[in-house]
Amino acid sequence: MALIIDKDEIIGTLKRELQEITNMQEFQNLKSKYLGKKSLIKSLMNNLKDIDDVELKKEYGKSVNELKEELETIFDEKLSELKEKEREEKEKKNWVDITIPGARRKVGKENLITKTRKEIEEIFIGMGFSVAEGPEIENSWYNFDALNTPEWHPAREMQDTFYLSLDKEKLLRTHTSPVQVRTMLKSKPPLAIISPGRVYRKDELDATHSPVFHQVEGLYVDRNVSVSHLKMYLEVFAQKFFGNKVSILLRPSYFPFTEPSFEVDISCIFCGGKGCNVCKNTGWIEILGAGLVHPNVFRSVNYDPKVWQGFAFGMGIERVAMLKYNIPDIREFYKNDARFIENL
Ligand code: PHE
Repeated sequence: MALIIDKDEIIGTLKRELQEITNMQEFQNLKSKYLGKKSLIKSLMNNLKDIDDVELKKEYGKSVNELKEELETIFDEKLSELKEKEREEKEKKNWVDITIPGARRKVGKENLITKTRKEIEEIFIGMGFSVAEGPEIENSWYNFDALNTPEWHPAREMQDTFYLSLDKEKLLRTHTSPVQVRTMLKSKPPLAIISPGRVYRKDELDATHSPVFHQVEGLYVDRNVSVSHLKMYLEVFAQKFFGNKVSILLRPSYFPFTEPSFEVDISCIFCGGKGCNVCKNTGWIEILGAGLVHPNVFRSVNYDPKVWQGFAFGMGIERVAMLKYNIPDIREFYKNDARFIENL
């Protein structure tokens, strides 16, 4: 029985063995070989029971314990070393150079018609209007009859309207005024609504016309409504939309559903009213149609025209967007050329 423990030899061997070790598994195996259940230390401890001499036993036990502690320290050191190595490797693998500029991705942009519609909506919502919507496929009653536009009216002719049935009952709405009829049938006055949406007319596509375009129409119904209300609301709109310096001009016109009717101009936003190409030297640019609601329109929705008055207006979204954003040709809106949207 060898009672001499060659500490240096054991530690020397362990250190050499530890040098070979590169991962946790190997480390654990080696550790149990030295310190585990069937380890070197265990077998040295087992020798104790065979020593009879008390002094010797004490001496031997002490040196085994010392060895055990030393081995443990060496293993602990190696463990921290391995852990540090593991952490470094992980860090290296996940390393990201945050100073490299990112790949530029194209982000979507709002279509100019949508953007302009929202701008118009915001302004009128700010003045107490709410937004109403309706179908693009309409019955002729909502699109025409209820709007004091009888059968004989030229607006009903084939050149203007896309009819969807031979009896001319079904059609693609030519304006969003039918939404106003639908809203009045559903609700009691007073009311203030705008109706944005797509409309259809048999127009040839050119720089200023399109068979499909967008409108925002408005309707305001209350007691004692006069042209001054119409003018005030439209002037505030024009100034908020085009800028504070803009003034408006009402010119007499004709629509079957309003009386009196007006064409509404803004002072030229390009020359400030002095006269230029865009305003054809008049100083004014037409932007919308408007008027006081015709009593017959109120009658067709069962509003009493003796009690209620109202004003209505309608504008083309493309038209005002072209003016505000300086777009020379309405066809730009429908070409889907990404550069058009990106450059706005
Ligand atoms: N509905 C008309 C159009 O589409 C616009 C309009 C609306 C005019 C309300 C007057 C009053 O041309």
